[in-house]
Amino acid sequence: MEIRPATTADFEDIQQLFKLVDRLHHEALPSLFRPTDEIDRSPDFLADWLADEAGQLWVVEENGRVVAFIYAKFYEQTTHPVLQPHSQVYIHDMVVAEDYQGSGLAQALMDQVVDWAKKKEADALRLQVFEFNQRAQAFYAKQGFTTSSRRMSRPLGKSEGREARGERREAREVDSLLPPRSSAPLPDLVRPEIVAMKPYTPIVPFEVLSAQLGRRPEEIVKLDANENPYGPSPKVQETLARANYLHIYPDPEANELREAISAYTGVPKANLLAGMGADELIDLVLRVVLSPGDGVIDCPPSFGMYPFSTAVNAGQYIPVPRHDDFSLDVAGIEQAVSNHPQAKVLFLCTPNNPDGSLIRDGDLRRLLALPLLVVVDEAYADFVRLPGYESHLAWVQTYENLVVLRTFSKLAGLAGLRVGYGAFPQWLLSHMWKIKQPYNVNVAASMAAVASLQDKMWLAEKTALIVQERERLQKALGTFDFLWPFPSHANFVLCRVLGRSARQLKLALEQEGVFVRYFDKPGVDDCIRVSVGRPSDTDALVKTLSVMSLRDHFVYGNR
Ligand SMILES: Cc1ncc(COP(=O)(O)O)c(C=O)c1O
Repeated sequence: MEIRPATTADFEDIQQLFKLVDRLHHEALPSLFRPTDEIDRSPDFLADWLADEAGQLWVVEENGRVVAFIYAKFYEQTTHPVLQPHSQVYIHDMVVAEDYQGSGLAQALMDQVVDWAKKKEADALRLQVFEFNQRAQAFYAKQGFTTSSRRMSRPLGKSEGREARGERREAREVDSLLPPRSSAPLPDLVRPEIVAMKPYTPIVPFEVLSAQLGRRPEEIVKLDANENPYGPSPKVQETLARANYLHIYPDPEANELREAISAYTGVPKANLLAGMGADELIDLVLRVVLSPGDGVIDCPPSFGMYPFSTAVNAGQYIPVPRHDDFSLDVAGIEQAVSNHPQAKVLFLCTPNNPDGSLIRDGDLRRLLALPLLVVVDEAYADFVRLPGYESHLAWVQTYENLVVLRTFSKLAGLAGLRVGYGAFPQWLLSHMWKIKQPYNVNVAASMAAVASLQDKMWLAEKTALIVQERERLQKALGTFDFLWPFPSHANFVLCRVLGRSARQLKLALEQEGVFVRYFDKPGVDDCIRVSVGRPSDTDALVKTLSVMSLRDHFVYGNR
């Protein structure tokens, strides 16, 4: 189909197309646009369009019928009363027949106008779209148009009466700066380390999974994100139901929450900072400490946010892999520090995600002697049941280079509300206060976290259930000859998969509605990680694995 300039012979078809616009307007704003309105689209009016040297009317014709048109006009500087003081092409009307919508005609007409506007050396393209015309708004947004805050009203033919009644057409003025192809090319604006980053793969939301698998959410066994299967204390629901001040910004210092955390942990409030999850605090620490190129030592396999936030903050990632049993290579870390004088931060996760092993206190003391900031991530510390084990939160009072992070996601079942905290030395904390977003912890998250800490019984009961179930899960997984579970102190169990692909196993479980985590990473690419759920989740997993294992015996024989 060809786009060509209109002639008077096209007027009848154009008038027909305008009826579509009238109908749309009438349907959307019946009190404003009546079908009886006489909007001037007479042949004389259209002839004026053709006669106007500054304007251009194009049509698309098929089988002897005009199926789309566009009318645009070039305005020099300030000749138009409502336009900005620069030259522009104003698109007055574009209509595509209903049976041709979605066929790409609008795009072709738009391209035509863009080329024309560039030849005229116009600074911008503009047009007006009604609020209700979301289809058109979406189309123009895709073309790079942005909406200006200014709203306009433009009376139609017989509108004086309506204006007097205060009725207005609400339209949005939208601008699109023409692509600066004729001027100098844009420099590379994106930071090189961001360009080099692999895009983050977001998890598939629960409801989407449920739709994809054709299973109700309650039929899905979700053991892939170390969430707390019991959710928050009922006190949290009660508190949130009573929330009165959701329209007021939260306390930037999260005083109530920090007081509650201080009472719960014994860490002075002055050393505590709350965050939008421990994730935010990982990022904040690096933002305070790193200049581009500074080093961050990580001990993989470990939590993925350490390399992620290092990359976002232009740090140099220095991995010191763990030993085969996932214990730390302490000497390797010391070596890395002397090899990389620009190393500033060391991340240590204990219990470590993804294997659940602990860092020995002796190793930690040795590493704290290094000239580094040591960030100990204790997201899972509440599930440790070793006699004499204690959190390292209190160590922050003793070691000037220690930060300890905790979260409400695992202990309190608040992963969806995003709230975590950390204990920090004063010299660091004063800078963290300066750069954190003022309202990082929202009102609901803060209330929920405080309510959780007030229900110590619930927290203790549910962590005990999780620990008990961890032991049962560990044993159950060990009964399968193709799984080798590692001992864990967290709310998950890592399993080496023997004699078959871990990824395939993960995918096969997924088909049965059981979700576990697979890592495409050195050291764990032959493993799956299973979060500890309720007893019924373990039962469902074990049942599925048993069926798979039986099926394999039939297919492959006893291996
Ligand atoms: C080791 C570790 N640290 C921190 C987090 C994140 O905690 P939050 O949900 O508070 O951001 C996780 C979450 O999985 C984790 O595994």
